[in-house]
Amino acid sequence: MNNRNKYYCVVPAAGVGSRMGTAVPKQYLRLHGKTVIEHTLARLCAHPLIEGVVVAIGADDQYWPQQQLPDPDKIYVAQGGAERCHSVLNGLQFLSGFADVDDWVLVHDAARPCLHHDDISRMIDMLSDHPVGGLLGVPVADTVKRSNPAGEVLQTVSRDHLWRALTPQMFRLSQLQQALQAALDEHFLVTDEASAMEHAGLKPHMVEGRADNIKITRPEDLSLAELYLAQQETA
Ligand code: CTP
Ligand code: MG
Repeated sequence: MNNRNKYYCVVPAAGVGSRMGTAVPKQYLRLHGKTVIEHTLARLCAHPLIEGVVVAIGADDQYWPQQQLPDPDKIYVAQGGAERCHSVLNGLQFLSGFADVDDWVLVHDAARPCLHHDDISRMIDMLSDHPVGGLLGVPVADTVKRSNPAGEVLQTVSRDHLWRALTPQMFRLSQLQQALQAALDEHFLVTDEASAMEHAGLKPHMVEGRADNIKITRPEDLSLAELYLAQQETA
């Protein structure tokens, strides 16, 4: 393992959770004894290789001050932005105030509270000597169809080498900052960090992760996350 560079996290947590439809943004909903974001931060802070975690919080967020932080000395706050990518960029900007340009940053959604310790370890292990970095993903399990806009199936798409992209996504601080900024400047739609790196002509590496690392998006995801958290506790 490469011991020269440090590992930090940036956690975008400035979304409103419109698909969840609750008054309280989903990252602050309670689940298995804690709020979603408390679970997420506890998992990141508990990993011994993570030096610090920058959380991007919305400007009028009244819930953040009430959170029980697992390790206050490791957690920093940055301003959230209009889209997820702006929140991430603000987090990276904050980090660049004290981290090295080549330090690794693991960007992880606040809404993924079931991230497993072993997935963080495996990702760092596999990528710490990689020239670009990469992301956790899960191979697509269902048969995949492409339809026309009217919903008529045109073809069955091969599942070979097809992945669902998860987080964390791990890249070098300065390279990621430049790639995200360039994508924004060129009005290229970035849905995750890897897509900005791909747009810059780089090839992020896929690391197979656990399928229970779900993003809480819709109401039915809450009970599933609750189940996974309970299961992981007894495993
Ligand atoms: N996020 C953010 N800043 C934004 C939008 C999203 O930091 N402007 C964060 C969310 O808080 C979440 C993560 O990015 O932790 C993943 O986004 P998503 O699941 O889409 O969350 P929301 O945008 O809150 O949900 P929705 O799209 O349903 O409104
Ligand atoms: Mg969103």
